[in-house]
Amino acid sequence: GTAQIGVTGLAVMGRNLARNFARNGFTVAVHNRTGARTRALVEEFGDEGDFVPAGTAEEFVAALERPRRLVIMVKAGEPTDAVIEEFAPLLDEGDVVIDGGNAHFADTRRREKELRKRGIHFVGVGISGGEEGALHGPSIMPGGSAESYVSLGPLLERIAAKADDGAPTVAHIGPDGAGHFVKMVHNGIEYADMQLIAEAYHLLRSVAGYSPARIAETFRTWNRGRLDSYLIEITAEVLAHTDAATGKPFVDIVADQAEQKGTGRWTVQIALDLGVPVSGIAEAVFARSVSGHGALRAASRELPGPVPEPLDGAAAERFAARVEQALYASKIVSYTQGFHQIQAGSETYDWDIDLGSVASIWRAGCIIRAAFLDRITSAYAQRSDLPSLLSDKGFAEEIGAAQDDWREVVATAARQGVPTPGFSAALAYYDALRAPRLPAALTQGQRDFFGAHTYRRTDREGSFHTLWGGDRSEVSTG
Ligand code: 6PG
Repeated sequence: GTAQIGVTGLAVMGRNLARNFARNGFTVAVHNRTGARTRALVEEFGDEGDFVPAGTAEEFVAALERPRRLVIMVKAGEPTDAVIEEFAPLLDEGDVVIDGGNAHFADTRRREKELRKRGIHFVGVGISGGEEGALHGPSIMPGGSAESYVSLGPLLERIAAKADDGAPTVAHIGPDGAGHFVKMVHNGIEYADMQLIAEAYHLLRSVAGYSPARIAETFRTWNRGRLDSYLIEITAEVLAHTDAATGKPFVDIVADQAEQKGTGRWTVQIALDLGVPVSGIAEAVFARSVSGHGALRAASRELPGPVPEPLDGAAAERFAARVEQALYASKIVSYTQGFHQIQAGSETYDWDIDLGSVASIWRAGCIIRAAFLDRITSAYAQRSDLPSLLSDKGFAEEIGAAQDDWREVVATAARQGVPTPGFSAALAYYDALRAPRLPAALTQGQRDFFGAHTYRRTDREGSFHTLWGGDRSEVSTG
């Protein structure tokens, strides 16, 4: 075969990825379960580069130079297993099978182990940037063996987005499921970012009394500062859009029930297993869930509470400036939590993930790309063993400077009855970390009381139990 890479599964992501490889000078074998998509791709985009259309799995495999590199771009879950089962018997030792879908990292670990026994490299690759990114340059998070990256890396570097300093936004994340794990946390952070922006919008609308168009302007202004990011940019676009049918702001005619395909939920499920407090991401997942419970919301509409009273003039503007501070501070917290989860995953699964490198490949191409990620990249460059993003002096100072406004925003939201679970959870996390003493001591006392679960003391080593049902003397338990 002559093709340097193959793509099977030619729905929009697969098609755009194949075109991206071809536009960058690679010969690309293309295959789809139903031939019509393969033919359509070559007909429409054949002049963009060298495509080798394959009608069958055998033809596809034969079209690839060896060791083969083939990218699977089908739905996560069973469809991915089915395609792997179809191709694996046709492959040889040393071939590289790449899963570019949003797979669960545990599935990727299982598949990698299975294929390794057969001498095949299985590489789970997180790809972010949506359809446009797949075509023009995504952020790419490959897991799998270091050996597979030697063969695959140069191709991925060509098709990846380029950060401002020209570096391609791809790096070998670590073995087996590391790439998909990091992509999962990327999506969790994406959920948190989106939720925080949504809360900012809600406050500007209800408390500052701004129109969607005015809020679009506000976001555009913010986007010229430290919040400069893709998500803020598209937020302004969405808010400025008018519905053609009704002439109303688009945001007012969309049903207010957020959906999800599941990667944010996975992030939280795994965080619970790892014992990592990703409260910002969790609140974002739950906020979507609350919004989706239409019947529950309808049944609760008459519950008592304040109706927000919009501010006017200068007061509204002052409040809007505070919301910017709250948004920025909460964003620092959600990234702190997300990076904590990556660090914990890396330790648990022995992945040896370089957190600075993760930050650096999120600088461009992906959905959470932002000027902010330059800051995180340099924080890790200054100190690669940073225990937490909040231990970085720069971030600590910024959050310190933002906190008065942040507290004021959360307090105002509570008083006016505007739900801000993201801002509030982030602030609670910040204050919990700062607290010299937490009420967890009381929790331990309760656990010891009802279940003899024991506690540790502040002044002596060992574990202890108080004889609550007896004379309340203390016994040492080890
Ligand atoms: C990306 C996105 C993408 C993801 C959806 C998730 O990085 O390009 O994260 O991979 O599929 O945007 O969306 P929902 O869970 O909100 O459907």
